[in-house]
Amino acid sequence: MNNIEGKVESRKAIQPPKKFVKQANITSKKIYEKAAKNPPAFWAEQAKHLSWFKPWKKVLQWKAPYAKWFVGGKINAAYNCLDRFLGTPTQNKAAIIWEGEPGDSRTLTYHQLHAEVCKFANVLKGLGVKKGDRVIVYMPMVPELAITLLSCARIGAVHSVVFGGFSSEALRDRIQDASAKVVVTASGGFRRGSVIQLKKNVDASLEHCPTVEKVVVVNRAMDPTQVPLKEGRDFWWHRLMEDASAKCPAEPMDSEDMLFTLYTSGTTGKPKGIVHTTAGYLLGANLTTRWIFDLKDSDVYWCTADIGWVTGHSYIVYGPLSNGATVVMYEGTPDYPEKDRFWRIIEKYGVTIFYTAPTAIRTFMKWGEEFPKRRDLSSLRLLGSVGEPINPEAWMWYYEFIGRKNCPVADTWWQTETGSILISPLPGITPMKPGSATWTMPGIKAEILDEKGKQVPSGSGGYLVLTHPWPSMMRGIFNDPERYQKQYWDKFPGKYFTGDGAKQDKDGFFWLLGRIDDVMNVSGHRISTMEVESALVDHHAVAEAAVVGKNHDIKGQAIAAFVTLKEGFKGTDGNEMIGVLKKHVADKIGALARPDDIHFTAELPKTRSGKIMRRLLRDIAEGRALGDTTTLADPSVVASLKQKYEETEG
Ligand code: WT7
Repeated sequence: MNNIEGKVESRKAIQPPKKFVKQANITSKKIYEKAAKNPPAFWAEQAKHLSWFKPWKKVLQWKAPYAKWFVGGKINAAYNCLDRFLGTPTQNKAAIIWEGEPGDSRTLTYHQLHAEVCKFANVLKGLGVKKGDRVIVYMPMVPELAITLLSCARIGAVHSVVFGGFSSEALRDRIQDASAKVVVTASGGFRRGSVIQLKKNVDASLEHCPTVEKVVVVNRAMDPTQVPLKEGRDFWWHRLMEDASAKCPAEPMDSEDMLFTLYTSGTTGKPKGIVHTTAGYLLGANLTTRWIFDLKDSDVYWCTADIGWVTGHSYIVYGPLSNGATVVMYEGTPDYPEKDRFWRIIEKYGVTIFYTAPTAIRTFMKWGEEFPKRRDLSSLRLLGSVGEPINPEAWMWYYEFIGRKNCPVADTWWQTETGSILISPLPGITPMKPGSATWTMPGIKAEILDEKGKQVPSGSGGYLVLTHPWPSMMRGIFNDPERYQKQYWDKFPGKYFTGDGAKQDKDGFFWLLGRIDDVMNVSGHRISTMEVESALVDHHAVAEAAVVGKNHDIKGQAIAAFVTLKEGFKGTDGNEMIGVLKKHVADKIGALARPDDIHFTAELPKTRSGKIMRRLLRDIAEGRALGDTTTLADPSVVASLKQKYEETEG
């Protein structure tokens, strides 16, 4: 665990700007106490903001590690995002303002989005999709992506989105694990001026996915005559939609019916399908969006995440839409065609709430203030950050140059597994300390424990755990209850283990210290060291590989790989084998997992029992003095590796 305290403790808290406080939705700290007294009663009260077909009988049924929330209730997530606004003034408000990377744009009102969702829900039904069936979604950031999610939710199908940056092999693994019946994709998507050919990847994966019966293809970014469709299996989205009826009642779902699964990396090579159910998840997304982003009817809200990650699920689709908000959705990258694209979008649509990741903020810092200064950002009133710890320098830059000291910054901590934000300021009442995600949300209880499960004194680092169930918590790992138990609940029985290290200061502020397991956080993307190692050893030249995350100024962490080659292969640093292996990993997993450095070594440092000592490799990659090497089988291995590393890194 890296130590960021010291510097940080001495900083004075920054109070939310007065102008903001005056208009904030939540103005009293009493909300924390009230929720803490009786969390289930608090959640039950909040759940009344949702539209139910049938009220629940019991708020919580908890038998660790399994929770059931709002037992006996009937509800539909798509209904809550659409139907309940019909016949109200929200009906004609923009639900999604979409901008494509080339500059094309499209706006869908709640009325229009409802009609599109009903139609596509009927299309899915027509393709044989039934309640409980899994639908894999592999798409660029186009409105059809949001429409697909809501259409699945409407008929009770389980969506499982695979980020468009994943390779065909990664996609194949996820389709197989989900036993998906239908895949929804697009011919392509734009990224930095070039085209990512998604349908081509789908075709490659489907050679090994017998469960998939139908594929729906959105026509995007390519000449449609150049996109081969397999007769009887593949269909154009627009053709199917032509004949679809816009009448499709929302299916009353049980509170605990599955809403979606989303694959994320754990400590093994195999990604896990995180399961979220309907009512609890929706409540978490709805409430946190309203409170943390202080939503008002007049807001234009923009979360820059991709819907391929949980942030996009909760804070582009379910959270804002269930609050009747106007959401901006953008297809491309922040530097296309120029490095002011994000600021142009804020100016063009009058964005009031902006939510992005620290890695993006650090990139903007590097590009310089001139880009945001060129544009009118005065519509902004609130900023958010998510995905990794934000360093105080980046926080201050964001606060000063994007928010002009008028906007509170909400550093929001959560995970795919938690479903919604659990640690964050409530911007009208919580003082801010740059670099701290501040306090747990009302109703959430966290502790920091030592190895033995005892609470550490304030100021000391330890394992972050959640001690009580909350509505949007994961309900399990798809088809793998054992892993669910082992990964999250065995370390500290009865408590949810987050995998993160944290400290709490004397004012109760949480300081997140990063992952303490073998999971890396590269530009806010979660990648397991084991996944990259498996991809490397899959190459015929590689005998053994060890992968570590090393600190990186922009990405947070960069991927460093130490590789031993098989007899007969040459790996002098700088030779073409480095390029070959980097490409191999990108092909196996996706460009996001491409190692930054590859170092060849005759041997890897191992303990006498044969365990690779990653801690020492991290010391080498980060240029530190080596830690304790006494448990090594052969300490000379690591010494020569360090020397060689220093020579090549210069
Ligand atoms: C991991 C979860 C859910 C958000 C997107 C990432 C890290 C996330 C913060 C933050 C410090 C953070 C943690 C966590 N993380 N937000 N504000 N401060 N760390 O979701 O891919 O499931 O990754 O991201 O390490 O465990 P994810």
